[in-house]
Amino acid sequence: MQKKRIMSGMRSTGQLHLGHYFGVLSNWIKLQAEYDCFFAIADWHALTTKYNDTDTMKTNVLEVAKDWLSCGIDPEIATVYIQSHIPEIAELHLLLSMITPQNWVERDPTLKDMVKILRSSESGDEESSKASYGLLGYPVLQTADIIIFNASLVPIGQDQLAHLELSRDIVRRFNYIYQTEHFVEPAPVLTETPLLPGLDGNKMGKSYNNDIKIADTEEDTAKKIMAAITDPARTKRDIPGKTENCQGIYPLYKTLASDEVKIQVKQECESASRGCVQCKKQLAQIVNEYFKDIRSKRKELEESPEKLAEIMSKGKDKAREQARKTIIETRKVMKIYYGDYF
Ligand code: TRP
Repeated sequence: MQKKRIMSGMRSTGQLHLGHYFGVLSNWIKLQAEYDCFFAIADWHALTTKYNDTDTMKTNVLEVAKDWLSCGIDPEIATVYIQSHIPEIAELHLLLSMITPQNWVERDPTLKDMVKILRSSESGDEESSKASYGLLGYPVLQTADIIIFNASLVPIGQDQLAHLELSRDIVRRFNYIYQTEHFVEPAPVLTETPLLPGLDGNKMGKSYNNDIKIADTEEDTAKKIMAAITDPARTKRDIPGKTENCQGIYPLYKTLASDEVKIQVKQECESASRGCVQCKKQLAQIVNEYFKDIRSKRKELEESPEKLAEIMSKGKDKAREQARKTIIETRKVMKIYYGDYF
């Protein structure tokens, strides 16, 4: 039986953190064994908000690629590629933009939030990012990403659900207008991954400066952990703590430590027989142990850029082959004839 196809992507925002690893990557790694997976590094999506800051674009793409591969995304079984290497996606985005009603896009709540955030940082004549025409197309581009590979399943987080609903609407509209079953309606695969808080208890994120990167050194990991916020009520070593009020440390134990260690930490914290410093030191060890092999694999990739280039080029070829087929078929369905009118 043919495997079902999955497509998903991540914007190229640079080095990934543990939130990406436990929230997304570990799930993709499980899925790749069972499904025919296409994973895109979405650099055009990054461009929708970072168009005035492209100096770091290339590095950001490469950092994501290195993180994915060292964490265990296997290019032998999954197709891994850079979105902008597949120009057919841009063509499909253009074609889809013609049939997508403007108010459908404007209704997308996730997009509304993105626009709001950008607008709030816009100021006078200073050249800050403005909400552009391209940003409005964000979910349409994402639709092209998915349907160009006929993917039927899309593993995504809760925040992306609104986009996917729009993708489904666009597919239905396309198939209706052209009286075809050309495109497959993609369904979400929601992953119940616990949200991993950052070291200050807020959502782990690059811009909050509360993250641990997959690529961090052991020393940096330990340093960051030592500065984390614990139970704010535990102002003295001999005051018992409450693990459920621990902002940045216990949640990481919950995700990474064995049941035995979790129980022990909880007991010792709540009876004040362990202090936060000891707890942080132990956590740093656990994190560093967990990522030891991943980090050494990452170093290897760093040291052989030609190997990375080869992997990404193979992924591009595999993805393009499929994308070309879809785009040729799409032109036919829409009766657009490139160069063969006469
Ligand atoms: N918008 C997604 C995010 O920010 C990334 C993405 C781009 C994506 N293309 C996609 C996700 C296609 C799923 C399918 O996380």
